[in-house]
Amino acid sequence: MTDIPAKKKRIFSGVQPSGILTLGNYIGALRNFVALQNSGEYDCIYPVMDLHALTVRQDPPTLRRRCLETMAVFIACGLDPEKNILFCQSHVPAHSELSWILSCFTYVGELQRMTQFKDKSQRHADNINAGLLTYPVLMAADILLYQTDLVPIGADQKQHLEIARDIAIRMNNVYGELFVVPDAYFGKTGTRVMSLTDPTRKMSKSDEPASYIAILDKPEDIRRKLRRAVTDSEGEVRYDRESKPGVTNLLDILSAMGGEDKEALVTRFAGKGYGALKDETADAVIAALTPVREKYDQVLADKAYLEGVLRSGAERAAVLAEKTLRKVHKKLGLAPYKL
Ligand code: TRP
Repeated sequence: MTDIPAKKKRIFSGVQPSGILTLGNYIGALRNFVALQNSGEYDCIYPVMDLHALTVRQDPPTLRRRCLETMAVFIACGLDPEKNILFCQSHVPAHSELSWILSCFTYVGELQRMTQFKDKSQRHADNINAGLLTYPVLMAADILLYQTDLVPIGADQKQHLEIARDIAIRMNNVYGELFVVPDAYFGKTGTRVMSLTDPTRKMSKSDEPASYIAILDKPEDIRRKLRRAVTDSEGEVRYDRESKPGVTNLLDILSAMGGEDKEALVTRFAGKGYGALKDETADAVIAALTPVREKYDQVLADKAYLEGVLRSGAERAAVLAEKTLRKVHKKLGLAPYKL
């Protein structure tokens, strides 16, 4: 047999440049991306999804700034631009091109059934643009363009991944092996970080600032928010998501940040009040996020470096994207072209 190494599986995921990234994004996504990178088992592609952000009105200077800031957070969290392909979606035109082609293989009815479309068209009733409807097609293009095997996503994106799979299968049935059919990838830590003010809801940057910890929050803000986190009046540290969602959330966060499992934490905090739990959780979160914030400031201050990362990321992405796009053109019968 040959000793050619097996082709690594390809992972693709992205986040929108919509401003604040929270502790939920850190624990649920970014930290796992770093673990995947360090495992060396995958080729990973993580763009900032700025075209998707256009489905709601954006202030141009703010959007421009947030693309760079989001990339700086990626790098500050430990993603290495040499080991992963990091870029800005709009810098690789193949995303938009494939999106058009895929839209011709997607039914309006299936797009109208998406829960996110229904939600967003209610919330933005004055701007139900076509992009809001075709959002999942662009997302399918993102994924299929890179012949992606695995897509790390949260539960809210499951339906969108499903449609990407359906489009891939549908086109493969007509044209033969065009696309790898991607699977969802759920990290091993199933920690769902909940709101600090209403621990029955997921932590979200769209809620009031007291309810979430931003990755870039200052230590004193992190401590204050955790001290004020909603708990219950029982006074006993136990892990019970139903009857003690606030305390359970603190235990989950401390366990995710400190490494100790929740049973060990419950034993260690037996007989101690919630104050001690909150303080230790704050210490652990601050210890993890302080180097991230410092690295972020350093990266963001070096515009030339950041732009270099985006440029080389886009170049590497474009090579892979172009390969798929050519194949699609050929199989669908678009006239061949030579540059
Ligand atoms: N829709 C995703 C979100 O809002 C972002 C996204 C766009 C994405 N394209 C993607 C995620 C492709 C994974 C794969 O979270």
